[in-house]
Amino acid sequence: MPELVAALDQGTTSTRCMIFDHDGREVARHQLEHEQIMPRSGWVEHDPDEIWERTRTVAKKALRRAKADPSDLAAVGITNQRETTVVWDRRTGRPCYNAIVWQDTRTDSIAAALQRDGHADLIRERSGLPPATYFAGGKLKWVLDEVDGVREAAEAGDVIFGTIDSWLLWNMTGGTEGGVHLTDVTNASRTMLMNLETLAWDPELCAIFGVPMQMLPEIRPSSDPNLFGRTQGARGGVWKGEVPIAGVLGDQHAAMVGQVCLAAGEAKNTYGTGNFLLLNTGEELVRSKNGLLSTVCYQLGDAKPVYALEGSIAVTGSAIQWLRDQLKIIGDAAESEALARSVDDNGGVYFVPAFSGLFAPYWRSDARGAIVGLSRYNTNAHVARAALEAICYQSRDVVDAMEADSGVHLDVLKVDGGVTANDLCMQIQADVLGVEVSRPEVAETTALGAAYAAGLAVGFWSDPDELRENWHEDRRWTPHGDEESREQGYAGWKKAVDRTLDWVD
Ligand code: G3P
Repeated sequence: MPELVAALDQGTTSTRCMIFDHDGREVARHQLEHEQIMPRSGWVEHDPDEIWERTRTVAKKALRRAKADPSDLAAVGITNQRETTVVWDRRTGRPCYNAIVWQDTRTDSIAAALQRDGHADLIRERSGLPPATYFAGGKLKWVLDEVDGVREAAEAGDVIFGTIDSWLLWNMTGGTEGGVHLTDVTNASRTMLMNLETLAWDPELCAIFGVPMQMLPEIRPSSDPNLFGRTQGARGGVWKGEVPIAGVLGDQHAAMVGQVCLAAGEAKNTYGTGNFLLLNTGEELVRSKNGLLSTVCYQLGDAKPVYALEGSIAVTGSAIQWLRDQLKIIGDAAESEALARSVDDNGGVYFVPAFSGLFAPYWRSDARGAIVGLSRYNTNAHVARAALEAICYQSRDVVDAMEADSGVHLDVLKVDGGVTANDLCMQIQADVLGVEVSRPEVAETTALGAAYAAGLAVGFWSDPDELRENWHEDRRWTPHGDEESREQGYAGWKKAVDRTLDWVD
């Protein structure tokens, strides 16, 4: 009996493969970054071939590091940056255009037109999402409208669409020589094209976006005993052996599974390039009145889908990268903690990193970033501290919206993702929210969740309760400071956010 499960986690800035044992412990990993292509202000692209190449490499190296063979793997799960859109030729396997990344704002005029033409309510009602540049439907429309020959080829059935999960699945299962064209409910729920209640592509939504339905992948549950396919492939595959691909889910949904937020009322906040706070709402589809998204949390086999409310924040960890790469005030991400600790507070400085406009709960594509409150007294250290605070204040914005929508008051916030290694940031988070913050021992909950989804499908884990036993707390932060100073700080943040609005037409 195989003793391991693998997960491929294709994220915004890097791709990793992790191998886990039955206790959910990491056995090995390998990770590689890929190029961020920014041809114009607001445009963000990835090279789909580079992503596939990186995926193959990390998969091979992680297995080697685990000193394992493909036959030691009970299954593999895929998890991915969501919304990022790939369109490719099914005859040649060649992408028709670079992948358009979720952060890309080139479709702001498409989003504005949907609003202007009165489609917003229908889109929100059917897909659970507001018209915004963030989601895949507008990006797909852009490729169909702007790239020569794509619309005709799509209508003829020669060109197909997928989010990154579909692109990897297609390549992992043989590409042009027999690759499958599939996605899962969570990824499909980020397109603005799927009906959240029926879990099927919605003909009316597809018509609004002008998307030929034959180019869309088949939608499957996130954990599928019928399997998405098996690894193999004309383009080299990932491993030499045939491993069942049994789980696929968007990265934030995978983190919910990895954090075992499997009951209604359980929530987690993932701190990556952006922040994504999800609350499990069970089998009930809750519609937000406060700027959150309704989304499929996961679907395990033929069980009913479980839904979530989500607060998506575009720029959090990437604001720290910006301090490193553009402002060059730190040498690496970890230095942000030491620099921010060198001062007692933000010195009156607020940093609103609205680089891609503002997502939840504001949904303002006209916003742009600002550093406000500066005086001659301020230094790099205040800016670094304000960047960490921005991560936490943006999370407070969505926690407040979530409590207003659901009536659920969070006693503890489960956190994960790269930024949670920053202890100061986690302390600030507890202070800003006035609730405890809890980090698990396995901080790579996204990869773990994909492994769980795959392992559940093939019987490696028998049921979700077994997964709960694998969750162990690593550290907990309790809030400091009184209510008055908490609210004063937050009022400063709100004032700063106001300054960023109406910046672009
Ligand atoms: O919706 C975008 C999200 O899935 C990206 O996550 O971790 O790659 O920044 P991450």
